Amino acid sequence: MTRRSIGIIVNGVTGRMGYRQHLVRSLLAIRESGGVPLADGTTAWPHLVLVGRSEAKLREIAERHGLDDWTTDLSAALARDDVEIYFDAQVTQQREKAIRQAIEAGKHIYTEKPLAEDTAAALDLARAARAAGVRTGVVQDKLFLPGLRKLKRLLDGGFFGQVLSVRGEFGYWVFEGDWQPAQRPSWNYRAEDGGGIVVDMFPHWHYVLAELFGEVRTVSATIATHIPRRVDEAGRPYQATADDAAYGVFELAGGVIAQLNSSWAVRVFRDELVEFQVDGTEGSAVAGLRRCRVQHRAVTPKPVWNPDLPVTEDFRSQWTEVPDNEDFDNGFKVQWEAFLRHVATGEEFRWDFLAGARGVQLAELGLVSAREGRRVEVPELAL
Ligand SMILES: NC(=O)c1ccc[n+]([C@@H]2O[C@H](COP(=O)([O-])OP(=O)(O)OC[C@H]3O[C@@H](n4cnc5c(N)ncnc54)[C@H](O)[C@@H]3O)[C@@H](O)[C@H]2O)c1
Repeated sequence: MTRRSIGIIVNGVTGRMGYRQHLVRSLLAIRESGGVPLADGTTAWPHLVLVGRSEAKLREIAERHGLDDWTTDLSAALARDDVEIYFDAQVTQQREKAIRQAIEAGKHIYTEKPLAEDTAAALDLARAARAAGVRTGVVQDKLFLPGLRKLKRLLDGGFFGQVLSVRGEFGYWVFEGDWQPAQRPSWNYRAEDGGGIVVDMFPHWHYVLAELFGEVRTVSATIATHIPRRVDEAGRPYQATADDAAYGVFELAGGVIAQLNSSWAVRVFRDELVEFQVDGTEGSAVAGLRRCRVQHRAVTPKPVWNPDLPVTEDFRSQWTEVPDNEDFDNGFKVQWEAFLRHVATGEEFRWDFLAGARGVQLAELGLVSAREGRRVEVPELAL
């Protein structure tokens, strides 16, 4: 089979997302499986150019995985003719500048979310990429989670009748860093470094809601910094200046009401770290990262409110598991494969910079809502 090598700069490969999800679980996994088969019978083969700030860390990662192409010089990597794609998993604040450089170098671009720090910058990147004729993509991994794929299958099959509401619960306890190290980077808790749960999670909520239930028309959010002081990676205490919890209500085109809580200061009494309950006239579902359970109207019990009696029903046991019916691959990898096909053959890929800009817009307007204490309309974005 003819192999078509596609040179990819992987910037931010030493980070949590860059290393585990993008390098190991996606790009190296694609190589291990022989590349991405294309419609013309050839195969797209990712050639990886690791880019970062620390020579020692890059060398160590490259050696660990049998790679030999790495550099701390982004400009030099972008100048190479054998590189077609720039990928960015750096801290959010470094992204815009690097992507601009990649557009100028004429590279196709794939990036972690959020695309930029504000809507104006995100739209500007989308326009610049279009003017340069380069293809773009933004990570929207949650769409490819088994739980959400099963939810989509239920929606496509008309299971819910009319969808009424969505309630989502995302979060877990992120350790403060004093007596146990935190399991997320400290920049996430500093607004001045691009942190905050709204900018982190609302871009995800945007595409989940828009793709499954309808475009977001309004947002109302209340935010909090529940844990004001944390301890960083070096053991130094710092002031948490960014929101670590957001309680949002979203009105969608078509009338669905979505209510999504996001928090890094909540202890999990759920089956998964994120769960969405969807209620419709014909049935309801609860979907997590992997599982999805349903209850149809025909088998819905009739609880009667009576606090004087102990609970009369085992509510959880009244739901039915939705079967997998297919093999679900890692969501990041599935989206990478789609982007590589998009670059190699022009196959459709709708999660582009404009889609990414809509996610940034929802985060920005969520913060406006929280600051001003009001419900905010979300205008349509166009290039
Ligand atoms: N899709 C998802 O589910 C998901 C989840 C978490 C994070 N993210 C996104 O991925 C990106 C990276 O997040 P992460 O959690 O991997 O962060 P991280 O702190 O673990 O990694 C950040 C990377 O950026 C690099 N970097 C470049 N310039 C830097 C600078 N000036 N200061 C600090 N680091 C710098 C670091 O070396 C490192 O490789 C963020 O934009 C974040 O929003 C996405």
